[in-house]
Amino acid sequence: MSKKLWGGRFKEEIDKDFFQFQKSIHYDYKLAEYDIYHSTIHISALKEAKILTRSEADKLTNALMSIFNEIKEGTYKQNSNSEDIHTDIQNRVEKKVGKLAQKMHTLRSRNDQIAFDEKWYCYKEGIYILSLLNVVLYSLNYLGNKYSKNFIPGYTHTQRAQVVSFVHYTGAFFYMLERDFERMDSFLKRSSIYIGSGALAGSAIPKSAYSYAIKKFLEKKQFDVKTSISEIVKNPLDNVSSRDFIVEFLSILSMIQMHLSRMSEDFILYSTKEFGFFDLPEKFCTGSSLMPHKKNPDFLELVRGNTGKIYGNLMSILTTMKGLPLTYNRDMQLDKEPLFSSTETVESELKIMAEFIKGIKLNEKRIKEVLEDEELYATELTEYLVHEGIAFSEAHGIIGKLVRYAEDNDVKIKELSDKVLKTFSKKLNNKDIIRIMNPEYAISSKKSITSGIKTPVIKKAKKR
Ligand code: ARG
Repeated sequence: MSKKLWGGRFKEEIDKDFFQFQKSIHYDYKLAEYDIYHSTIHISALKEAKILTRSEADKLTNALMSIFNEIKEGTYKQNSNSEDIHTDIQNRVEKKVGKLAQKMHTLRSRNDQIAFDEKWYCYKEGIYILSLLNVVLYSLNYLGNKYSKNFIPGYTHTQRAQVVSFVHYTGAFFYMLERDFERMDSFLKRSSIYIGSGALAGSAIPKSAYSYAIKKFLEKKQFDVKTSISEIVKNPLDNVSSRDFIVEFLSILSMIQMHLSRMSEDFILYSTKEFGFFDLPEKFCTGSSLMPHKKNPDFLELVRGNTGKIYGNLMSILTTMKGLPLTYNRDMQLDKEPLFSSTETVESELKIMAEFIKGIKLNEKRIKEVLEDEELYATELTEYLVHEGIAFSEAHGIIGKLVRYAEDNDVKIKELSDKVLKTFSKKLNNKDIIRIMNPEYAISSKKSITSGIKTPVIKKAKKR
């Protein structure tokens, strides 16, 4: 067990099993870089408040910078016996500068550090997720444009409904994910990362010292931090107790996951022999160890399957936070694994999905066959009768009977003579039926969406 950040009032050694049970270093090491940000600002505020001398502050900052470089190079190895990442960095600084390291934690608390670190994590990953969403949006546009002249059957209740243009199909997912993009963008715009909470009651370091320290931190080139979202805390009780930013972040990820999962389900269905609309990119499929013919859509199935975990992570944090008294409680340590798990999963899904979509091929021959299904045009026939002056409900009944007649007698509506057609309605005739019952007519009759036939325009991530 390595040196702890507490212990003075204890006579008994901590129980070994309990120590293992309560430590978080094996997952919160992912926050190392943000913890260095916090310490750097804190040291500079302590110097400004004349609690540390310039030379002390410089030594501590240099030690932190060398740890930061190790983190960036991937050579930083945490001590698995440290309680958490804050303790680990503190101990590492002590190894570098000796006893002076004990001044680094003056007037601060891990409660402040952890809120700061996790907010930075969400902020940085949120920006990355925006860029990944953008790539998926480009891929959907690419696929839509590639087949911009194609039509496919549209479904309701998983039953053939009406013909739609393929670009509308890809556009539907585009708009869902574009809204997720906007949700994340708005989350990031509303993000503030606070410092100066102490354990819960604030700290004795003056505001002016924190302002100076934040300004200096933003100027440090090594960190490459271009944003000024770090602020002095307004309400320390709120800052150390609240995890609504994680709930919001995980809600947005859940929404992205819901959309990716629905998209996966559609692609799986459309790639079956029964549908046969899509040929999926082989490099994202796997085979069977027994059945030589199989090409299984494992990526899509895993995305669909991950939804349980992603929703579960959101429920986990919501439930953990539900009954906690103010302010920080150790329960809140358990927010990290769900946060990291959802973030990493959604990021890898988006990354692969962008490539997957570009590799989808339409089986145009099979789709053409299915588009021959006359039932797909029943609604257009009804609309034709409405234009001829028949009330919609009556027209609906007439075409319903006509469809049923063709089904029962195993005949094509397009092949019925005018004589037979007139028994359903005087307004029906073979020439108009042939004109109406085809994809081009069906699509061109949809006046409300003519502009929507183009692929949607991708909005650029706003500068922040
Ligand atoms: N590892 C802890 C966490 O992640 C750090 C905060 C501990 N604070 C405390 N007062 N025990 O929540």
